[in-house]
Amino acid sequence: MIMNFKIQTLYILTFFVIILNSCRNVDETLSISSPNQKNQLIFSLSESGAPEYQLNSNGNSIITRSKMGFEFVENQKMTDGFKIINSEINSEDTKWEQPWGEFKIIKNQHTKLTVHLQEISGEKRLVDIIFKVFNDGLGFRYHFPEQPNLNEVKISNELTEFSFPEEHNVWWIPVHSDNSYYESLYKKSPISKTDTINTPATFETKDGMYLAIHEANLTDFASMTLRYSGQNRFQSELVPWADGVKVYAKTPFNTPWRTIIVAENPGELVTSTLMLNLNEASEIEDVSWIEPSKYIGIWWGMHLDKYTWGSGEKHGATTKNTKEYIDFAAENNFDGVLVEGWNIGWDGDWTSDGTSFSFTQPYPDFDIEDISSYAAKKGVRLIGHHETAGAATHYEIQLEDAFELYQKNGVNAVKTGYVNKFLDKKEWHDSQFGVRHYRKVIETAAKYQIMIDNHEPVKGTGLQRTYPNLMTQEGARGQEYNAWSKDGGNPPEHTTILPFTRMLSGPMDFTPGNFGFDYKSVQGAKVQTTVAKQLALYVVLFSPLQMASDLPENYVDKPAFKFIKDVPTIWSETKVIDAKIGEYVVIARKDWKEKNWYLGAITNSDSRNLEISFSFLDPTKKYTAEIYTDGQDANYKTNPYPVAISSQIINSKSNLNLSLAAGGGTAIKISLIE
Ligand code: NOJ
Repeated sequence: MIMNFKIQTLYILTFFVIILNSCRNVDETLSISSPNQKNQLIFSLSESGAPEYQLNSNGNSIITRSKMGFEFVENQKMTDGFKIINSEINSEDTKWEQPWGEFKIIKNQHTKLTVHLQEISGEKRLVDIIFKVFNDGLGFRYHFPEQPNLNEVKISNELTEFSFPEEHNVWWIPVHSDNSYYESLYKKSPISKTDTINTPATFETKDGMYLAIHEANLTDFASMTLRYSGQNRFQSELVPWADGVKVYAKTPFNTPWRTIIVAENPGELVTSTLMLNLNEASEIEDVSWIEPSKYIGIWWGMHLDKYTWGSGEKHGATTKNTKEYIDFAAENNFDGVLVEGWNIGWDGDWTSDGTSFSFTQPYPDFDIEDISSYAAKKGVRLIGHHETAGAATHYEIQLEDAFELYQKNGVNAVKTGYVNKFLDKKEWHDSQFGVRHYRKVIETAAKYQIMIDNHEPVKGTGLQRTYPNLMTQEGARGQEYNAWSKDGGNPPEHTTILPFTRMLSGPMDFTPGNFGFDYKSVQGAKVQTTVAKQLALYVVLFSPLQMASDLPENYVDKPAFKFIKDVPTIWSETKVIDAKIGEYVVIARKDWKEKNWYLGAITNSDSRNLEISFSFLDPTKKYTAEIYTDGQDANYKTNPYPVAISSQIINSKSNLNLSLAAGGGTAIKISLIE
């Protein structure tokens, strides 16, 4: 149930506060460093009293003097004319435990600087800027205290800048041009060749460092996108409401944290925990009902046009069909069966208007009570589905009843969807309107002990720490593009970029597990991988709810299916063994029980050999490695099927040469020999 903040701190190693300055004769420059001294934040006021920040790493400037501030619709802008009235430095070194994740224990080590600013003249308004410098980067946010001359505000612009010392390359996707829920292919280009881009945006410097700009704890605010403003500089560009206002707020309020991960190699981007550390502790005290799990679904059949969501001869969500899927799930140890198209509202052009959807009325050929009790007998649960087609308010009106119906029928996870360029026909998914809507759904779901898998979402910003029932989201091009995308599907490099871009914002419901490549799609789209790469994606792309997305018949009698049945969905530890963004990725993860390891290696359209060391294993133990790799002549274009399965005993001194086919991969289950 929802409780006030429960701090999950395991222990506090050190905590101290130094009051640096109080009110008089203060320096105009303040600086703090990360606990390991690597990253240094410098805050200063310019001659005109404009707040600016800089970030150094290992003594080199990473972010050069960058401006900060806000403009309002009806109030004077707050960009300069400030003095520092006070500042504090705190430091924290604590640990907290996740209910699920890519790590069990997370260290929160940082140095914090709070700068209290006041306008020297005029309305003498106040704003605080709070910086936290971690070993893996920087987070900062603005806090507007309650004050006489600033009450209700309409923000028209955030002026936070991110200035680089030189022109880097960036992996980026555009804002709102292809669609408004991040389903674009990533491009790599010099920063001057971008326009307005989404975060996480990942930068590669000429010295081979990696930086990722994003945000944490996006609460009742507009999403931050980045607009290239010339001279190696981006400026925050908040997503507006339909009326042009960016954010409606009332003091006191906080902005989300603006974050910059600083990494020496691509792997350090993946293992950064800065975003989670900048979110609040869990609001859900009893998390026993939150169950990471694997599922199958009446889903791919719709995307391949074998079934329809709507009623009629090809209706997929029938009682009979669902029971067959439940049987398959029970036989193969899956926890859930997703059923799309079970409810009234899919007939006609549902994507253009979602107001026909009922979230409580099943189609007559879907007997929800009968199906749920059948599922319960088999130890399987239905996974619910709420497609809204963007009709957010229409959905909100039904929300309580909809979750109540599902709860009554033993459903503890619901996939939501917002296929439409807009919410309520006019608001962006990533606007303050959207942010409020998605939060309402997560909070209401928690009341009914329901987990959420959110498609067409606003980007993740680490809210799963506060609401661990927000399990996973889409927010990138997933497997479905391989069924109908006019451009032929996701190219092989797509999944070698996702871990360093989209995945930095949290778990993704990519829905891997395709075993059948001989389907006919209207647009000629295709899954552009080998089978072995599909297996490896279960390790590479983290999601606490993982789907085996193919039609059940494609798994029958396939030895490689064993890996999907075995692979866990949550991890006590994660290590990036080797990676080059856009080319290949090798990730090893230890299961939640802290016993067995799993390794996933994937490549782009180039075949390659990778020498893997198992030095991450416990040196005192022996393990059995079950290896699923591309078989003879495997190739994503011409022959995706061959998988070679072998087994050998390994220890921490073992090395293995992985031979990945073009568009291929390797998945390894590494079991402790006890
Ligand atoms: C888009 C989702 O991403 C997809 O998984 C789902 O099948 C359709 N919407 C229909 O809800």
